[in-house]
Amino acid sequence: MKEKIRKLAREKNAIILAHNYEPPEIQDLADLCGDSLELSIKASKTDADIIVFCGVHFMAETAKILSPDKKVLLPNPDAGCPMADMVTPEALLKRKEELSGIPVVTYVNSTAAVKAISDVCCTSANVVKIVRSLDAKEVLMTPDKNLAQYAAKHTDKKIHLWEGYCPFHNDMKKEDALKAREKFPGAILIAHPECPPETLEIADEIASTSGMITIARNSDKKEFIIATETGHIYPLKNACPDKIFHIASEKIYCRDMKKITPEMVLHSLETGFGEVDVPEDIRIKALGSVQKMLSAS
Ligand code: 13P
Ligand code: SF4
Repeated sequence: MKEKIRKLAREKNAIILAHNYEPPEIQDLADLCGDSLELSIKASKTDADIIVFCGVHFMAETAKILSPDKKVLLPNPDAGCPMADMVTPEALLKRKEELSGIPVVTYVNSTAAVKAISDVCCTSANVVKIVRSLDAKEVLMTPDKNLAQYAAKHTDKKIHLWEGYCPFHNDMKKEDALKAREKFPGAILIAHPECPPETLEIADEIASTSGMITIARNSDKKEFIIATETGHIYPLKNACPDKIFHIASEKIYCRDMKKITPEMVLHSLETGFGEVDVPEDIRIKALGSVQKMLSAS
């Protein structure tokens, strides 16, 4: 199956991108696996005709925002992000009016329509840099309240929160992380900034998914506890086969990130199924927020 997909991708000049949380069999057939920032950068630079995005809907949408002339395929159009749905353009416009004029920083885990009415996007890898780069004392951050509190702690800005969260990372309780610490004494605890503040407080390191790989690779320590989606253990082990990784909580399992199968990738490549489109007026406005993020990253 892998060979068949790779051959067809070559013939069609398609690039296959996969997020670090995707199942191993998907990561194994991708041209590039990475975090949201790396995948956005790759989507903005590729000269492929087709981008097959193995991730969730907002990621494919971001690729389309950056590459309007390319065909962007999401092999299972059902793969979404519950956090992205926690902010609507209507609700954001209302909040913007209440907070008259302060800049809006929107996590890439959001719809194109929400990006279109934001000032700048961010990912978990660049959030602190992006917030610091703004010439304003106060900002509104959407939709992740945990990422926003993390940014508030590492910048001197007053940050207005949005009540959104990743239902899985938000469930990463400090007690569970402490239990993992007890079970694996001496292991380094690395947490994703989508986790609640009290969990981040006890972490040794806080990083995006690819940031975690870099930390593990460069560390002289051998054992790590990982507080993010369970699928991330696979790319960590691939990158550092001589190190040991434990998941902090089996509860962080994102069903949407497991919705794409190799069969679906093949079908999508063969038929063009799952094409993602963004209305041009929204795309142009959303592009401004995404490009501002990329040039500040
Ligand atoms: P990163 O890979 O950018 O850290 O993102 C995590 C995530 O939740 C993607 O949905
Ligand atoms: Fe969305 Fe959380 Fe799944 Fe990432 S892990 S796609 S933030 S629900």
